[in-house]
Amino acid sequence: MMPTSTRRPSLFTAERGAPLVAPSILSADFARLEEECRAVMDSGADLLHLDVMDGHFVPNLSMGPALCQAVRHHLPETYLDVHMMVTNPGQFIEPFAKAGADNFTVHVECDEDPMELAASIRAAGMSAGLAIKPDTDFSLMKPLVSQFDLLLVMSVHPGFSGQSFIPEVLETTRKLRDLVGPNQHIEMDGGVGPETAIDCIADGCDVLVAASAIFKGDDYAGAIAAIRGN
Ligand code: DX5
Ligand code: ZN
Repeated sequence: MMPTSTRRPSLFTAERGAPLVAPSILSADFARLEEECRAVMDSGADLLHLDVMDGHFVPNLSMGPALCQAVRHHLPETYLDVHMMVTNPGQFIEPFAKAGADNFTVHVECDEDPMELAASIRAAGMSAGLAIKPDTDFSLMKPLVSQFDLLLVMSVHPGFSGQSFIPEVLETTRKLRDLVGPNQHIEMDGGVGPETAIDCIADGCDVLVAASAIFKGDDYAGAIAAIRGN
């Protein structure tokens, strides 16, 4: 059987236009998760961002494949972007592929070889992302850029939503902008809201992740439109 993920449209063949807005469900009401996911998608979001934390790579625990599978079950058409803030992401590639994830992003700072991870992620039917923390030297990511479909720049120290945007990471974004091809995405994650999104977009980001800026207010559609720059 083909992986479920191949049935959904890919972000990576979409025509370039307005930046894509990816609500991070980390700030959703977990007890009403289906309703929350539907609400943001019905409010104009392009995809959902799932933050996976292992209590080791970051000092927090969040969600795993079972939650991804539940979201996939209730929202069969929604693109699911999984951000692995874990030390050993390789062991979770198959479980998340089976759970219906579309994109699987690993950190350049993890304990495994990113090139091998990229190959395994694609073999499992997902697209591959590579993330970098704010304080990590870009020289670690640079030689790997061509191997990934999505490059995620962390604009907060990973682990929690609701932190302030670190503007210095825009330098990384600008470096990436000069390296990526037309089929690659640059995603900004952390402290993104209507004001900080402006610089992210100007410096080359085309996928904007936001948790608190969307879920902490009542007007999801207004927040999503404002982040996109409408
Ligand atoms: C942080 C996560 C982010 C986070 C963003 O470790 O990777 O995706 O949920 O939250 P905000 O948008 O509130 O900074
Ligand atoms: Zn994230």
